Order: sequence, then structure tokens, then C-alpha cells
Amino acid sequence: MEHVVEIQRLTKKFGDFTAVDNISLSVEKGEIFGFLGPNGAGKTTTIKMLCGIMMPTSGEGRVSGYDIISEQERIKNVIGYMSQRFSLYEDLTVMENLEFFGSIYGLEGFRLKEGIDRVLDMAGIGERKNELVKRLPGGIKQRLALGGAILHNPPILFLDEPTSGVDPLMRRNFWEIIYRFSEEGRTIFVTTHYMDEAEHCDRIALIIAGEIIALDSPDALKKNFNHVVYSISTDNFLDVFEKIRHLDFIVEAAIFGTDIHIMCEENIPVKKKLSSFFREHGVSSYALNRIMPSLEDVFVGNARRFSR
Ligand SMILES: Nc1ncnc2c1ncn2[C@@H]1O[C@H](COP(=O)(O)OP(=O)(O)O)[C@@H](O)[C@H]1O
Ligand SMILES: [Mg+2]
Repeated sequence: MEHVVEIQRLTKKFGDFTAVDNISLSVEKGEIFGFLGPNGAGKTTTIKMLCGIMMPTSGEGRVSGYDIISEQERIKNVIGYMSQRFSLYEDLTVMENLEFFGSIYGLEGFRLKEGIDRVLDMAGIGERKNELVKRLPGGIKQRLALGGAILHNPPILFLDEPTSGVDPLMRRNFWEIIYRFSEEGRTIFVTTHYMDEAEHCDRIALIIAGEIIALDSPDALKKNFNHVVYSISTDNFLDVFEKIRHLDFIVEAAIFGTDIHIMCEENIPVKKKLSSFFREHGVSSYALNRIMPSLEDVFVGNARRFSR
């Protein structure tokens, strides 16, 4: 197995504050690796250390075989980095932005033209190439920013919340592009706080307060989750929800459409406990079904043990 990203005990402190706390992981060639966590979890800080933009406080890492501490300049040539705020020049046209990115990577002449043609085609923005960036909708800007990151055809892409603030249709569209990259053998390291997006990844690391609390494929995370989830259908679901949400054997309760989902620890006789509770409280018609946990459930269940 070829590991294109490898980090051990990576830590970043800002003064007394530990933003990234002793994390270790590796990413295989061609993998879509998701870094999933809430705001402030340490995602951007990790990406910056991997891209050779920020020095770790301790720990070590390699990207494409290059040391993230001593070979930062080399790393920049083999990666594409799309930062959290798409860094585009609003007063330049699409074409001018791409030419500018090209100059950063030292592309000229034929190689620059080839790169720009490829990016315009990939992003489907050829017909807008002479428009000012500030006139473009968010989804197009996003694809242009991605284009800027892949102009030099890098085998590894770091995408920092690439779809935040973009509408769902555009997000889907964007993920199709990411899949295509992955099929071409590129490796993708992508951060997100959208649970549904994490489902698209081959593997994900859940990060909270600078620590990785779980790391596996989405299916394995759900399968190995040490809680069970049930769906309750009943009339008056709002009343029932209010009645049961604070029961001691219920870790988490939430409303999904007109159903109630509850999460409980394993090995608790949930059906028995609920049926006697419902009997006492006059809830006579209901259906209780065990369901597959969602990634969000997995996240919430794991997150309870951690918080800043
Ligand atoms: N340059 C900095 N100086 C001090 N604190 C920082 C700096 N950069 C990030 N932080 C803090 O580190 C934590 C992690 O930030 P960040 O990596 O941006 O999280 P995320 O990308 O997951 O939202 C946050 O609490 C943030 O305020
Ligand atoms: Mg961030």
C-alpha cells in the first residue's frame, strides 16, 4: 500500500492552546479521505501543516514522501491546495485568475495553455472565461478555485471545506468532479462539516477539539458504533418527543420528519423500557424499529465524550 500522506503524533499549539492534539493517520494513493469535524476542531490547522504552510509544534509527517518540516517547498509542487476562503481575485477575469495561478506554479507557454484548457473543461466554465470573477455565482467561483488548485496537475489535492456556502445542487456537482479525480488516481484530502458529504469519502477521520475520535470507512464506523438507534412512529410525535427526550436510557433524541429517532447505549432493553413508559403515559399506538445509525448519529455518539 502506498501512503501518500503520513503523519505521526502531529501537534500544533498556539500559546497554551492546543489546536491539533497528537494526531496520527495515513492516506493511501487514490483515496478520498475526509476530515470531518465542527468549526474550531483543527481541520484547517492540520491541512496547513500538511501543505507546508504552517510548522507543527511537534510530531512528524510526510506528503508524497517529502518531510512536512524540512521539505515544505517540494511539497508545494506535488499538491493542489484549495483554501477555505477561495482565494480568487474578484477584479480579474476567470482567465486572468488562471494565468495568475499558473505564474505561481511557474507554468508558461504550452504548459500554461494546456493547464488552462484542462481546467476550463473540467469546471465547465469555458464560456465564462472573460467574465469578472465578482460577477460569477458561488458555485462557479468554487469550481474556478478548484481549477486554480489543479492547474499544475498535482497528484494530491487538499480541499478545505470546498463546498461550504454552496447550494446542494452545486455541491453534488462538485463531488462528481472529485470522484473523477479519484478515478484518475489522484489522492484527495477533504475537510467538511457536512455529514452527508462525509458519506462520499472512502475513509473519514472524525476530529473534535483537535483530537481524532474515530477513523474508518463510513460503513465500518456505523457497523462498529457502540450505540443502537431506533425510530419511533406515533401520532402526536411532538408530545411523545417531549415526554421521552430526557429519559435516562436515551442518549440522544431527535425528530426526523414525523418520526422520532433515539440513540441508546448497547445492551439496554429499550423495547421493554419504552413500552412500559408508554403504557404509563397513555401512548397506545406506536411503532418502534431499530434502524441503521447515520454518520451523524455516529458523530454525536462519539462527540459526547469530547468537547472543549
Ligand atoms: N493562528 C492562530 N492563532 C491562535 N489560534 C488559532 C490560530 N489558528 C487557529 N486557531 C484556533 O485553533 C482552533 C482550530 O482552528 P481551525 O484549524 O481553523 O479549525 P477548523 O478548520 O476545524 O474550523 C480554533 O479554536 C482556532 O480559533
Ligand atoms: Mg477550517
